[in-house]
Amino acid sequence: MEVFSRDEAHEKTQKYDRMREKKAFDESKAGVKGLVDAGITEVPRIFVDHPENLQSALASSNGHFHVPIVDLADIVKDPSRRKEVVNEVRSASKTWGFFQVVNHGIPTTVLEEMLDGVRRFHEQGAEEKRRFYSRDFTTSVAYHSNFNLYKTEAANWRDTLFCVMAPNAPEAEDLPAVCRDIMLEFSKRVMNLGITLFELLSEALGLKPNHLKDMECAKGLVLLNQYYPKCPQPELTMGTSRHTDSDFLTVLLQDHVGGLQVLYQNQWIDVSPVPGALIVNIGDLLQLISNDIFKSSEHRVVANNMGPRASVACFFYTATPPSPKLYGPIKELISEGDPPKYRETTIMEYVSHFSANAKGDGTSALQQFKL
Ligand code: OGA
Ligand code: NI
Repeated sequence: MEVFSRDEAHEKTQKYDRMREKKAFDESKAGVKGLVDAGITEVPRIFVDHPENLQSALASSNGHFHVPIVDLADIVKDPSRRKEVVNEVRSASKTWGFFQVVNHGIPTTVLEEMLDGVRRFHEQGAEEKRRFYSRDFTTSVAYHSNFNLYKTEAANWRDTLFCVMAPNAPEAEDLPAVCRDIMLEFSKRVMNLGITLFELLSEALGLKPNHLKDMECAKGLVLLNQYYPKCPQPELTMGTSRHTDSDFLTVLLQDHVGGLQVLYQNQWIDVSPVPGALIVNIGDLLQLISNDIFKSSEHRVVANNMGPRASVACFFYTATPPSPKLYGPIKELISEGDPPKYRETTIMEYVSHFSANAKGDGTSALQQFKL
């Protein structure tokens, strides 16, 4: 009895300390990069993850599986090539929920400059970044570390600059000066690529090319400029814990460092950097409206000590202003034999629910919307 209550007290102290230490970290407004710049040589305990979450983090990808690569060249002028691409997109979206695209039309110089912009933002002085520090998710531009810092047990080794780029583009002066021009340029191009991808995905579902665009899946775009500082003890923490994306579709630009992994057939498979390629993954909202035809797969990023890693996750969904539209399984995809699997919801309701439950343990928010 006494032992039990002492354990309980110990646990409470641990919890209290964790909260206090997280708060101190949050209030530094300097992110993980601030810790690294201060010269830490050990990972502070708020970042130390459970061994089961770290399991096999450094020993994945046995080489048997590779995320499909889809070549988008000639899909406009060659109808038979387009048909093949639609088949490849369908197959990848049903099984992996992930694929990489090449010949997507965005010049490599733009991709490189975007990644440089992410590094410039996170590597500038702490004072410059501090004015953007915010946990208010209704603002259009916010810099923070761990959007779910107070919900998870272990924090991730990652800092983020969050920017809503569409439907309303921010005023140039609202964006950080060191990356504003490239963010506006890159977003415009990602928006065009997104429209092409939604056309291919519509066709892959047997719908008219404009179906998903007409549902306003490509109306909103949020950019997450992610920065994973070099980690002194990468075996103890995660860059990004296992999760699915809450949006319709994500276009992800990663640099050459690597560390992104997708869960496929119960194994963590490396999504290896391919120069000039972009990664595409199905989000929860597209799984919901496709009535489980497409799969929103879990993925994560392992920490590394090879140097900072930069990435840009482009989320297609309407964040602000919130859309009043209701989304449920697409009527054309349901029949007597294939009844709807989900109730209708708004983007705001789904994303709020997702964020409130983002504990980094792989539980899916979609379950709560199942009929
Ligand atoms: C995300 C994500 C992966 C990466 O932001 O949702 O999965 O490589 N990012 O940063
Ligand atoms: Ni993700």
